[in-house]
Amino acid sequence: GEADQVLSITPKTQEQVEVVRNVSTQYETVLWQPVSHQYITEETQVHLFVPANSSEMVQDLFSCLSSDIFRVLLANPSELIEMQTKNYSTDPRSSSTFYERYHSLEDIYYWINRTTMDNTDKVKAILIGSSYEKRPLYVLKLSLNDRPNKKAAWIDCGIHAREWISPAFCLWFSLAFYRQNQEITNILDDMDFYVLPVMNPDGYKYTWTTKRMWRKNRSLSRSRWGSTCIGVDLNRNFDANWCTEGASPEPCSEIYCGAFPESEPESQAVANFLRTHKDSVQLYISIHSYSQMLLFPYSCTMDEAENHSDLLEMTQKAAQNIRRFYRTNYKYGAGAKTIYLAPGGSDDWAYKLGIKYSFTFELQDRGEYGFLLPPSKISKACNEALIAVKTIALKVIEKT
Ligand code: ARG
Ligand code: ZN
Repeated sequence: GEADQVLSITPKTQEQVEVVRNVSTQYETVLWQPVSHQYITEETQVHLFVPANSSEMVQDLFSCLSSDIFRVLLANPSELIEMQTKNYSTDPRSSSTFYERYHSLEDIYYWINRTTMDNTDKVKAILIGSSYEKRPLYVLKLSLNDRPNKKAAWIDCGIHAREWISPAFCLWFSLAFYRQNQEITNILDDMDFYVLPVMNPDGYKYTWTTKRMWRKNRSLSRSRWGSTCIGVDLNRNFDANWCTEGASPEPCSEIYCGAFPESEPESQAVANFLRTHKDSVQLYISIHSYSQMLLFPYSCTMDEAENHSDLLEMTQKAAQNIRRFYRTNYKYGAGAKTIYLAPGGSDDWAYKLGIKYSFTFELQDRGEYGFLLPPSKISKACNEALIAVKTIALKVIEKT
């Protein structure tokens, strides 16, 4: 073949599992789902991005697999990638559809600047640190009043570079805030929001310029064997059963945990900020894609969180509201039991710090477009997440 492709393969036998694992590790492919080849087992649906230059080889290897376990999910991802960035150079900041498009890192910095200047009474930018490549990490503080002992919530977006819908949500959420639609105003009477639009700016930049499917940050590591690889999975770099099963000590892995907990400037900046603000921050939310899930601790162990039933009830309500208003189904539950063990995640770390309402949202879709969700779907995906944030924030205000 001469084009990129995304394949969906569901191996049925151990032998087929081995074939799929080999292809996903030995060729220039990118696993979309599951996150690492070790999770490929019989009956797991595997989503695999295959670049044009390996597509012939991969097709040959898979020719032995029967057609009922194998199909083309996206025949032309390059066209979708183009769609996600088109019209951009001509008119990057046109206001009417600004929030229904994806934005380059430069434009997000520009947007942060504009938003704070146009709403000086309500929106402030706080510099919490900088990335490995020395890009600034700005958090927006959204606040309507400064009553004493005010509660606060934290939302971060863009931990993983290729999940473009995530930064788009942080922009969407901030707009809903400064436009002040009614329910949000009720929440904001009692709660400030800290919003980090892009936690991994180096990775995000790299997905725009060089490799759309990049996940990790961009720091350079040397392995025990002397080889070098780039990138730490920031969602495996926090101090919560760090680098146990579900993360990898290998620098080249997509789920590399880093040299030690908070080894990365991005995770350290977030952890430092939350440690300093832990008395006011009652709610932590991290935005990812894709798979449509509302997850809560623990992801680093099969154990149940002490307030498991509270967290379950909150996500259940949120999922109900999403279904009621948008007819979209979201799964909900504790991370480890709902998807897989993933130690070192920011949500578990925040929970252990004492932020008892801690969540990871996986936004649209379920693999139809995967990481290449078209811009036309941004508004629905963001509104779904917005109603989940509102539902949960109201519950937190009630309970604390
Ligand atoms: N899919 C995301 C990841 O692999 C989230 C998995 C859930 N883990 C967590 N700590 N919430 O990082
Ligand atoms: Zn993610």
